Amino acid sequence: MLSHNFPCLLILVLLVSPVLEASVISQMRPRRSILRYLGDEIEPPDAAVELNSTNFDAVLSNSPATYAIVEFFAHWCPACRNYKPQYENVARLFNGPEAVHPGIILMTRVDCAWKMNTNLCDRFSVSRYPMLLWGPPIKFASGKWDPKQEKNEIHSIDDARTAERLLNWINKKLGSSFSLEDEKYENENTLPWNASDPELISRAVYDVEEATTKAFEIILEHKMIKLDTRSPLIKFLQLLVAHHPSKRCRKGSADILVNFDDLWPSGLLPTGPHAASISKERDGLKGFWICGKEVPRGYWIFCRGSKNETRGFSCGLWVLLHSLSVRVGDGESHSAFTAICDFIHNFFLCDECRQHFYEMCLSVSTPLNTTRDLGLWLWRAHNKVNERLMIEEKDMKTEDPRFPKTIWPPKQLCNQCYFAPSSKSHGAALLDWNEDEVFKFLVKYYGENLVSSYKDSVSDSRDGESIVDDMAVSTNAVAVPVGAALAIALASCAFGALACFWRTQQKNRKQRKNLSKT
Ligand SMILES: Cc1cc2nc3c(=O)[nH]c(=O)nc-3n(C[C@H](O)[C@H](O)[C@H](O)COP(=O)(O)OP(=O)(O)OC[C@H]3O[C@@H](n4cnc5c(N)ncnc54)[C@H](O)[C@@H]3O)c2cc1C
Ligand SMILES: *[C@@H]1O[C@H](CO)[C@@H](O)[C@H](O)[C@H]1NC(C)=O
Ligand SMILES: *[C@@H]1O[C@H](CO)[C@@H](O)[C@H](O)[C@H]1NC(C)=O
Ligand SMILES: *[C@@H]1O[C@H](CO)[C@@H](O)[C@H](O)[C@H]1NC(C)=O
Ligand SMILES: *[C@@H]1O[C@H](CO)[C@@H](O)[C@H](O)[C@H]1NC(C)=O
Repeated sequence: MLSHNFPCLLILVLLVSPVLEASVISQMRPRRSILRYLGDEIEPPDAAVELNSTNFDAVLSNSPATYAIVEFFAHWCPACRNYKPQYENVARLFNGPEAVHPGIILMTRVDCAWKMNTNLCDRFSVSRYPMLLWGPPIKFASGKWDPKQEKNEIHSIDDARTAERLLNWINKKLGSSFSLEDEKYENENTLPWNASDPELISRAVYDVEEATTKAFEIILEHKMIKLDTRSPLIKFLQLLVAHHPSKRCRKGSADILVNFDDLWPSGLLPTGPHAASISKERDGLKGFWICGKEVPRGYWIFCRGSKNETRGFSCGLWVLLHSLSVRVGDGESHSAFTAICDFIHNFFLCDECRQHFYEMCLSVSTPLNTTRDLGLWLWRAHNKVNERLMIEEKDMKTEDPRFPKTIWPPKQLCNQCYFAPSSKSHGAALLDWNEDEVFKFLVKYYGENLVSSYKDSVSDSRDGESIVDDMAVSTNAVAVPVGAALAIALASCAFGALACFWRTQQKNRKQRKNLSKT
């Protein structure tokens, strides 16, 4: 069926009167419609995301995908209707949590026939339907396209007449070998993955968001907030408010922290297994997204395994912990250490993991005085886990073939982290680390390279307030601490002085609000 030609695929439509429209339709109606056949089946929801001028910039600037394709079409254009199943066939590979290759290419469409989109379509010099453009999502979000302009990161896709041709174009562009027949977790060797590329980690910010959300979901689902776990959770949330690499998670954590006492009043928390008042927990959760409404997305990017069961959450959690560890200040390093240890101990549902980890925590006998102490401690702890799992996974055959455990960082990532050429030493114990260099590397890798890339263009806060603004509020309003959560917040003001201050501010504001209500 692909040898059919589509004479009307690239009609030039600049100004179309209803008369012309009608004549175009009658002339161009395909003789044998592929669509009719497809139309008889129950249509699955579209995989490509339809955008309009209201959400175009926001969706593209928030997308975790590396690339985006925008199809400009008009709903009355028959060529476009015929083209839709072709485009959808490709979009199904890349869009959404059920995609075979999620998080790589965001496929979207814009209906230029709607008046509201006229300016948007003009911005991209749309001169025919359908017209496909390719580029990094962020370039679309802020950008425009003009065919005469030479240096532009947005390109027109010249040959996309069928799903195969579009996919070929993509494969050529990326050096990949995607195929329409790909099945989830069965064709993973499609995109070249350069393990020694330090840039890859920048994509992990999306996994850190995913892991944060997932961790919180698990806590709620398993009703893990109890009288004795309350304080560890609050301390960890404080750490997130101050140092989470993603801005929207900092914001979301602050939101939860501020409302913690109301959501989980200490008097009502179950102490034992009898959890009668827990339904409040579910209700309370409504309206709170720890990393904003767009998360979780349902898939992993940096932490995506080549098999269903591997990597994912636990990888994302490690990356979160490392990124926190290099972000805290010297003075906060020991309280951050305690917060991390207690969080894993109380809330990580993998028993073996939390036990091992807690043992490593307990073996720390002197306080960690600096960020360096903390960063290197976590790095060593992680390598100890890797070392153990290297053997275990080989025995049990549970390893991810594409991501075998290694002592990290490998030389390709950080040659200067190693002192002597270790050609003779095969065992990990013989490695001679240059810890100064390792710490420098950790700071660069998990600190500088791992930051939110999206712009905060969409206001996803419920009350429209921004944390940053709040933090700038004058400190004159000395707070009177009320409530256990707040008391803890103040007691541990060692970290997140800002977070702590912000929380106090919010609390006061709330009380004022409540007072004025009564
Ligand atoms: C606190 C904790 C304890 C765990 N304990 C166990 C356990 O006892 N038994 C078990 O079976 N599984 C345990 N896991 C899970 C296990 O460590 C891995 O997370 C999981 O097997 C997925 O592995 P991965 O290949 O995605 O890499 P991960 O080990 O999850 O690492 C994620 C990424 O971090 C980077 N990285 C690797 N090593 C280091 C390092 N030393 N320092 C800094 N960055 C590094 C790499 O880029 C790697 O891709 C634990 C996880 C956590 C978060
Ligand atoms: C734009 O698209 C969004 C999401 O599909 C939708 O909610 C919104 O109503 C649309 N705006 C208009 C004006 O049609
Ligand atoms: C992998 O990345 C490193 C660092 O950016 C680069 O030097 C190297 O050429 C890349 N290798 C391949 C095969 O792309
Ligand atoms: C992948 O995991 C999901 C949920 O854990 C499960 O339902 C599904 O069957 C798994 N798929 C494969 C191919 O293993
Ligand atoms: C932190 O400082 C104390 C006192 O100076 C010292 O005893 C301790 O060893 C230091 N901790 C680490 C991890 O270096």
